[in-house]
Amino acid sequence: MKNLEDNRSYRRKIVVWLSIICSLIAVTMLLETAVRLTHSGLSDIAWRISKGTLGLTFMIPFSFFFLRGALSAPQTIRLLIGFFLGIAQVALGWFIEAIGLWNRSTLTHYELAVDLVLTLFIFSQFLKIIQDLTVGPQVDFPERTKARIGMGILHSFLGIQIIYGAFVAGLRAGYAFNSFPKMNDTWIPSHATNQIPLWRNFVENPAMVQFIHRWMGILLGIGVIIFYGTFIGAKMGRSRKMFLHMTFVMILVQTSIGIITLTSKMNPAFALAHQLGALLLFGSVQTFSLSLRKSNVLKV
Ligand code: HEM
Repeated sequence: MKNLEDNRSYRRKIVVWLSIICSLIAVTMLLETAVRLTHSGLSDIAWRISKGTLGLTFMIPFSFFFLRGALSAPQTIRLLIGFFLGIAQVALGWFIEAIGLWNRSTLTHYELAVDLVLTLFIFSQFLKIIQDLTVGPQVDFPERTKARIGMGILHSFLGIQIIYGAFVAGLRAGYAFNSFPKMNDTWIPSHATNQIPLWRNFVENPAMVQFIHRWMGILLGIGVIIFYGTFIGAKMGRSRKMFLHMTFVMILVQTSIGIITLTSKMNPAFALAHQLGALLLFGSVQTFSLSLRKSNVLKV
């Protein structure tokens, strides 16, 4: 099989194709959220059209590149994982519909979280290939291991934060307590722990779920600022530095838009910007984290 690394023309085309796919994933995600926030009732049609477009935009170029031998084996596997997870996501939607749960008119917060995590995972598979094809291996630097561990921790908390974001959205928890930093006139509402058993409050009580999401967001922001201050002086190479700057800017933007979304009482424009911000922040963190891996370090 012809190796993609040696083929500049295919490389460029694949990057353009995958960038279009990533943009379509973002558009589909925002469309679903817009439908949910505005109760426009178009959800089923919009959902089918956007998923169908995505499927075709994937399948036709994929078959072409595959038949031309333009994809390496790891890239093919990664692309197929993304594709089959996309199918699984569609199947999950149909399954929910088939067993009549769709009639509840809204998804539960758990379903919303599964849907969002699947979307981010699929997005991350395509982004990783774009990164391999455009950035490639980077120089080593003395603080790399320390930075990798720090980013690993921030990455994990970001994952949890995004799941809690979906919980806030699914429980419609953003419609209550539209003040910041206090939740109305208290730091934590008394009924944030009123469900029994206690653990249930952490995943099903809107007051507690919102409390966790808002403060984990602030803590993540502080974590990224400390990380940025610690590693900004490191000689990590231009591309990595750019990803670090992007992560820093995106956490500040994302946290601010989160606060504005809440205090604007869920203005759909801000809520959509907040969701897009989560995707961009996730993309920056993933790209920066991957660039710190040993396998992405130039061998000398
Ligand atoms: C690192 C910071 C943050 C990340 C990554 C993040 C991520 C997310 C995500 C992924 C959602 C779900 C969007 C959806 O599915 O529609 C969400 C929802 C939400 N977030 Fe955040 N968030 C962050 C910080 C904050 C902060 C600091 C606040 C407020 C103080 C906040 C308030 C909200 C609200 C009110 C919603 C519900 C929006 C809706 O119903 O569509 N977020 N967040």
